[in-house]
Parts: sequence; structure tokens; C-alpha cells
Amino acid sequence: MDASALLADTRIVPVVVISDIDTAIPLALTLRDAGILAIEITLRTPQALRALECISREVPELLPGVGSVRQPEQFAQAREAGARFAVSPGTTPTLLQAAGTARMPYLPGAATASEILHLLEAGYRLQKFFPAEQLGGIRMLKALGAPLPEARFCPTGGLHAGLVPAYLGCPQVACVGGSWFIPAEALAAGDYARIGELATAAVALASTA
Ligand code: 3PG
Repeated sequence: MDASALLADTRIVPVVVISDIDTAIPLALTLRDAGILAIEITLRTPQALRALECISREVPELLPGVGSVRQPEQFAQAREAGARFAVSPGTTPTLLQAAGTARMPYLPGAATASEILHLLEAGYRLQKFFPAEQLGGIRMLKALGAPLPEARFCPTGGLHAGLVPAYLGCPQVACVGGSWFIPAEALAAGDYARIGELATAAVALASTA
């Protein structure tokens, strides 16, 4: 299921790695208070599913999503934990089938014209363009988007605040993803004031783009 409708109001998707479960709720509250609408908890740590459970229960204003999905069974596990959308860095036929079976809105990754075409054929208009900066950034995105005007993107990977207006100014870009406003050292230190400042600045940039 294409995630365009579910993420229609979302301009920034925070890509979050939770290593300490005690940081999940304070981080989610900080992002919510900054005006962030959705959160992608990546399946890169053993705490990820528990963090999803806690956030979806305690911070219902944030749309909870699961990221770094690499195995078909992770859709059902994440749904059970409260995820309402799923994200992968790339995709495979197995993952597309599993997303469909789980009826989970899915933001699959693409990096080439062929991958974008394959996802369009499968019904996925909104795609994660990953890793955006390393692939060539806005120039690459515009070059790929020109002959593929049906596709919409969530560029993610290597973004920082200075790039947000230019990315969101591209007609092909629906939203951007990243972790630049959640520095790992700030999260580890419990510096939610810093994260809140950076997230508020990100939201402000997105609202003027
Ligand atoms: C992802 O999984 O989407 C990326 O790791 C996010 O990229 P960033 O950390 O460079 O923003």
C-alpha cells in the first residue's frame, strides 16, 4: 500500500535509533512539541519494537512508523507494536508482498530509474530516495524525476538543515527524512532541549519551503 495518503501532511520524517528504551518517550514528546507529525523507529537495535509500543501508546499525536525493514515478518511484528507505516532502505519482491499482506502503508526505497519504475508498477508512488546526498542529491533527484513525473520522493540520507528548503522546494519531493536534528550524542546525554531546538528549526524550515 502506497503511503502517500497517510503521510500527506508530513514534511519531515525523523529517522530514530533507540538504544536506551528510557529515551523513547522523552524523545517522542520533544519531537511532538516541536511540531513533528510522524516518527520512524528503525529496526537497528533490540529496543526498537518496544520503543514503538511505548510511543504509540503514550504519544498518540505522533504517527508511529517502523524503519530499516529488511525481513517480511517485520511488517507483522511492527504492526503488533503499533506501527502504522513501514520504511525500507531499498526493496525486494518479498518485502512488497509482505507489506501488501500486512496491509501496511509502505515507503520502499529506490535509488535508480529502474527501481523507481519497478515500484511505480507495483503501485508505490511515494518512494524513499536513499541515500539521497550520497547518490548525488537534488541534481540526481531532479534528473531521475524528470522522465518519471508520477513518482514522489522522501529523500533521506545525509541531509542537514541547510538542504531542507531546496529539497522540499522540488516538486517531486513530498517530504524529507533524516536524523540531523537528533544527534546521537544529544540523545545519549538526555539533552532534549538541544534536540527540541534543532527539531523546531527543522519544522520552521519545512513550513517556509
Ligand atoms: C535512514 O535510515 O534513513 C538513514 O540512516 C537516515 O540518514 P541520516 O542519518 O544520514 O539522516
